[in-house]
Amino acid sequence: MLTVELCMGTSCHLMGVQDLVAVLETLPAEQREQIEIKGVTCFKNCGKGPNIRINGELISNATPDRLLEILQANLA
Ligand code: FES
Repeated sequence: MLTVELCMGTSCHLMGVQDLVAVLETLPAEQREQIEIKGVTCFKNCGKGPNIRINGELISNATPDRLLEILQANLA
């Protein structure tokens, strides 16, 4: 199980966190089932958004490509 936490704060919103949400939504169902998705108010790292945390590891300046890369490396 992979835990993906997405920052829902204003800065990360403006920096495109919704593009990362879109990536999660396009995954096939069998991969989606392996992910627990959570929203976080703010990681206090607003200058480097969008911020996400995957299994406890903070990823700043996250891009859809980077997220996909991590997901494919961790999902069956
Ligand atoms: S708004 Fe995302 S880290 Fe603060």
